[in-house]
Amino acid sequence: MAGNTANKTASKTESKPARAYAAVTPEVVAELRSIAGTGNVLVDEEKIQAYSHDETSAEEYGHMPEVVVLPVTAEQVAAIVKLANRLRIPVTPRGAGSGLSGGAIPQFGGILVSLEKMNKVIELDIDNMVIVVEAGMVTNDLANLVQEKGLFFAGYPMSLQTCMIGGNIAENAGGGKAVKYGVTGRYVQGLELVTPTGEIVNLGGKLAKDVSGYDLTHLVVGSEGTLGIVTKAIIRLIGYPAARSDLLALFKTPQDAIDAVPAIMAKGLVPTSIEFMDQLSIITSCRYLNESLPYEKAGAMLLIELDGTDPAQVEADLIATGELCEQHGAIEVYVAEDRNTMERIWNVRRNIAEAFKVYSPVQSLEDIVVPMASIPAIIPELEKLGEKYRMKIPCYGHAGDGNLHATLVKDPDMESALWHDAEAACLRELYLITKKLGGKISGEHGIGLKRKAALKELIDPVELKLMQGIKRAWDPNNIMNPGKIFDLDQS
Ligand code: LAC
Ligand code: ZN
Repeated sequence: MAGNTANKTASKTESKPARAYAAVTPEVVAELRSIAGTGNVLVDEEKIQAYSHDETSAEEYGHMPEVVVLPVTAEQVAAIVKLANRLRIPVTPRGAGSGLSGGAIPQFGGILVSLEKMNKVIELDIDNMVIVVEAGMVTNDLANLVQEKGLFFAGYPMSLQTCMIGGNIAENAGGGKAVKYGVTGRYVQGLELVTPTGEIVNLGGKLAKDVSGYDLTHLVVGSEGTLGIVTKAIIRLIGYPAARSDLLALFKTPQDAIDAVPAIMAKGLVPTSIEFMDQLSIITSCRYLNESLPYEKAGAMLLIELDGTDPAQVEADLIATGELCEQHGAIEVYVAEDRNTMERIWNVRRNIAEAFKVYSPVQSLEDIVVPMASIPAIIPELEKLGEKYRMKIPCYGHAGDGNLHATLVKDPDMESALWHDAEAACLRELYLITKKLGGKISGEHGIGLKRKAALKELIDPVELKLMQGIKRAWDPNNIMNPGKIFDLDQS
């Protein structure tokens, strides 16, 4: 990622911790070395720089850790957290750093615990249809490994080639197959967790059902690393859907394309995914990839995937879906003829976020989510906001989930100071519109640092109080990824 100029001083988004934290002294570093081994403790600035940011803007949100530790066992993680809790040093868990809301940024310095070396498969248990893996396993490696056995892990996000399963769990990541298969949490049956006070606890298990008390497994899922460090996960597998087809429907306008989505869903067809891409998103990604899909003239398109075990059924659903698109204004409908073509089209879709980052590093990638029937109402609002704030707001994303990546992009001729004011005001308006439509400000990227202020403004205060109460109960010294999602000194 470009521009790793992480900020050592307080950034404008930084808020004060509930209490002052202790510094990482040479004695602490020595103790960390005795826990994790000298080679697994990094203090050199050039080595720890890469851990100071995620995929949000490093200038805006980045912050240097004081020390980075790369543990190799859950016991080491527990010892590190115990030490940090005793001395009141903040701890930030980190997977691949591919997050989009600042969740893995060590906002208050302290100890950054990277799970990158804990990347092993513990057990592939086909009789129980689960795989047990360490949290630092790259999600794509997991998906490929089970696919070789005819099995499927369906909960993976668009960044699957780099992201890690522990990060997916922390963020409850969603992605390209969520319409049919749901998001990461649906596949998490159990967790090994190091609590914020440094105990190791096993939650859930190889169980299809479990109502033995609170569902703590799924409280941890999506808690953005604020309730502990996931070290292992029991992941549910399903049979690999051998039949798959993709369809690309071209529409004249974004509105036409989006209008077709609730119509498809309301017919009871359950595509694996319905991805929306407006023209600017398609063109930007094609240019970035030097790809030449012959579809650049469409105002927008839907990329629809269908899968299943019965090829004839998938084919029938594909035809029905294509017809529905045509009935709802598609100007052309293409069926991807082979895997290679499918992969090329999906590659364009998967790379949109990265392409925009290269095209304009000054931007804000959003992931608002609204009820299915309300997505058509979003498009004219985005157009109005773009005009009002003089910025481009290209849009793409998981239309079948009501989850859209509207991206506020700075025009090159706009002054930086003006941009920041316009961005903040525009985002606020976008979030208010989303709330009015019954939606939420984040469907898959999380709150982290980036949306903390907006969450505070928009959330029901009772809900916030309940969340803060949980955090206090789990993490009495507020050392575990502090300052993410909400602050404890707010009420
Ligand atoms: C995507 C990421 C940005 O859907 O969530 O491409
Ligand atoms: Zn997405």
